[in-house]
Parts: sequence; C-alpha cells; structure tokens
Amino acid sequence: MNLTDKVALVTGGARRVGRTLAIELAQAGCDVAITFNTSRADAEQVVKEITALGRRAWAWQVDLANPTAPRQITDDVTRDAGRLDVLVHNASVYEPSRWGDTKDYELHIHHRVNAMAPVMMTQACADLLSADGGGRVINFLDAHLLENTRRGYLAYSMSKAALLEATYVLAREMAPAVTVNAIAPGVIDWAEDMTDDQRAAYLSRIPLARPGTPQDAAQAVLYLARNADYLTGQIIRLDGGRTLGS
Ligand SMILES: NC(=O)c1ccc[n+]([C@@H]2O[C@H](COP(=O)([O-])OP(=O)(O)OC[C@H]3O[C@@H](n4cnc5c(N)ncnc54)[C@H](OP(=O)(O)O)[C@@H]3O)[C@@H](O)[C@H]2O)c1
Repeated sequence: MNLTDKVALVTGGARRVGRTLAIELAQAGCDVAITFNTSRADAEQVVKEITALGRRAWAWQVDLANPTAPRQITDDVTRDAGRLDVLVHNASVYEPSRWGDTKDYELHIHHRVNAMAPVMMTQACADLLSADGGGRVINFLDAHLLENTRRGYLAYSMSKAALLEATYVLAREMAPAVTVNAIAPGVIDWAEDMTDDQRAAYLSRIPLARPGTPQDAAQAVLYLARNADYLTGQIIRLDGGRTLGS
C-alpha cells in the first residue's frame, strides 16, 4: 500500500513505542491520529511534531476500559479524517498479577483494554478500513506468548493470548479487503521499573545481543502496512532471536 495521504490510527500513541510508530508513519506519508488516556501533554507534543512534518494529526483522549470507547474513536476518525487505512492496536495495560493473588478486576481490565477494545474498535472501523482498496490492522502481542511462558503476569498474558486468537479469526473474517497481522515483541522499550541486573540477564539470552527499540517496532509496522500485500493472519516475532533459545 502506498502510504502517501493515507490515514493511520495508533492507540496509545503519546509515549514510548506508540509515539515512535505515530511519527514514523507520518514520515512515511500518513496523516496520523493517536489516542491517549493519561498522557495529554505528550500527545499534544506528538501532534505538534507530526504537523511540523506537513501531515495532519489528531489526538483523542479515550479510556479503552470504557465499552463506549471503540464507537467514540470511530466517530472521531470519521468526522476529522474521513478515512482510515492503517489501524495499530498498540495501547496496553501491563501490570503484574501473581497466580495466587490475581483479582477478578485485574483479569477484567487487561482483557477489556488489551483484547476487547482492539476487537470492538476493529469491528466499528471495518467499513472505513474496507472503503478504499483495503486496509491494515496491526496488533501488538508479546513474544512470551509464543515461547517461554511468563510467571507473574497471568492477567496480561491471558489478554494477549486472546488478542493472538483474534488476530487469526479477524484475518479470516476480514479478508480479502483488510489484512490483520501482529507483532510479538521481546523487549522493544525497557519497562521503566526494570533493574540493570534484570536488563543484563535478559540481554544475555538474545542472540542479536541488544534490546529491540521502538524504531525496530516501527520498521515492522511499516513493513506490514506498506509492503505486506499478500500476508494476513501472521505474527512477526520481534525479539532479536530470543525464541530460538540460547
Ligand atoms: N515495551 C516492550 O518492550 C514490549 C514488550 C512486549 C510487548 N509490548 C507491546 O507493545 C506495545 C507498546 O509497548 P509499550 O511498552 O510502549 O506500551 P505501554 O507503555 O505499556 O503502554 C502504551 C500506552 O497504552 C495506553 N493505555 C494503557 N491503558 C489504557 C487505557 N485504559 N485506555 C487507553 N490507553 C491506555 C497508555 O496511554 P497513556 O500514557 O496516555 O495513559 C500507554 O502510554 C504494547 O501493546 C505492549 O504490550 C511491548
């Protein structure tokens, strides 16, 4: 897909990985909408940077835990941008939940934000995505889903597993107009509370010997959005070879 003058929407696009995705999509020629929840000042800064690149940009506040959020965003896109070509489900809740202590609301909030919101938003945007020769949906999973099951993050892991299955189902359901693929990162931006020792231990298990970066994630998104015409229902492991074993 030629991205010039297309419209991309990146959820959670104010900070960290989402911010880089939004700016790189704009550099590739897209007008870009981002959603944010709490990071208003960062979101406004992203809009400024994208506007300075000569592209249109919008930032909409939305709490994806709210069941009305998908409809609200779709109305915002229709009103302001008038089209949607690339939908990137980047926003995510990532909180520890140990098996023995996991609470009902922890399961609920992870499932709502990480799995239900992407599915319902894709459903609400399906007509927009199908309108002009076909669109792209790109989900963010986690490499731990595919290998190395992780302890201490039960609710998060379950929600990303649901999004993995949704990637396959929606790829079938939305073909041929829309492709649905996913990126399963290892580390692409260190969790802010990770210690130096934890980072070193993680790095020792990565064959490519460095952590991934938000730019690596953006390259994968651009590949799926721009080049991957004949790819749907696929998962890119963006983990420096970590799942190959050490
Ligand atoms: N970072 C990594 O190394 C890594 C590893 C594996 C997978 N991933 C996946 O890659 C994606 C990007 O990673 P990241 O580390 O940049 O993500 P992140 O910082 O954990 O979260 C991204 C954004 O999600 C938004 N968000 C959280 N709860 C929300 C809610 N209830 N409603 C609306 N927005 C909400 C936040 O927006 P506000 O700031 O506006 O509140 C946040 O900035 C995520 O899907 C993550 O699961 C990342």
